[in-house]
Amino acid sequence: MQNLVSDSAGTILVRRARAAELKAVRALARSTPMAAHWLPAAFEAYCFAPSQKSEAQAKALFVACSAATGMPIGFAAFSALAMVDPSGAPAAECELENMAVAAEWRRQGVGKRLLHAGMLWCSGQSGTSLWLEVRASNRGAIALYEQTGFIVSGRRTAYYAEPPDDAILMRKKLF
Ligand SMILES: CC(C)(COP(=O)(O)OP(=O)(O)OC[C@H]1O[C@@H](n2cnc3c(N)ncnc32)[C@H](O)[C@@H]1OP(=O)(O)O)[C@@H](O)C(=O)NCCC(=O)NCCS
Repeated sequence: MQNLVSDSAGTILVRRARAAELKAVRALARSTPMAAHWLPAAFEAYCFAPSQKSEAQAKALFVACSAATGMPIGFAAFSALAMVDPSGAPAAECELENMAVAAEWRRQGVGKRLLHAGMLWCSGQSGTSLWLEVRASNRGAIALYEQTGFIVSGRRTAYYAEPPDDAILMRKKLF
């Protein structure tokens, strides 16, 4: 499988997740309080979904791997809901659904590379915008999204539970 994004030193490789990596991806999500703790079937759906424009909702799971060990050190899951724009042209509403980077790998550009890989995929799905929701208290993730070009487009009061928090809705135009 082709490596989509790599850092200049080649120490981090970003590509679509493989079935054999799902256990490690789920463990990473479980050990990350701010990530969504999906059941195995949810991760499988993002890993195995046919990534085709003809699908009503295409899905993709990307992993960032350490080139030294080959082990996943981060992941990001994206969806693209097919629609038509006002002119009748094919388009897609895309969403970042879940993301985490292992604590020891943070602030080394892994999250940024995962987002770039996802944005490339969304553009390939005729995506017009990439949307996400993030806890208002998650300042690190919000900083990453702002640095990547997302802008705040709304706030959902008391959207999250355990612990309660508002959701910040952010959007990045893809063209
Ligand atoms: C949010 C998260 C994915 C960021 O991953 P990352 O690999 O550390 O991000 P990057 O290294 O690519 O950061 C790129 C830029 O984003 C900003 N940024 C990222 N994390 C930040 C933090 N904790 N505080 C402030 N700015 C931050 C910085 O501008 C950073 O550039 P710099 O390091 O040169 O200053 C990671 O912290 C994480 O897994 N958090 C827990 C799970 C989570 O919050 N998921 C998102 C749910 S919506």
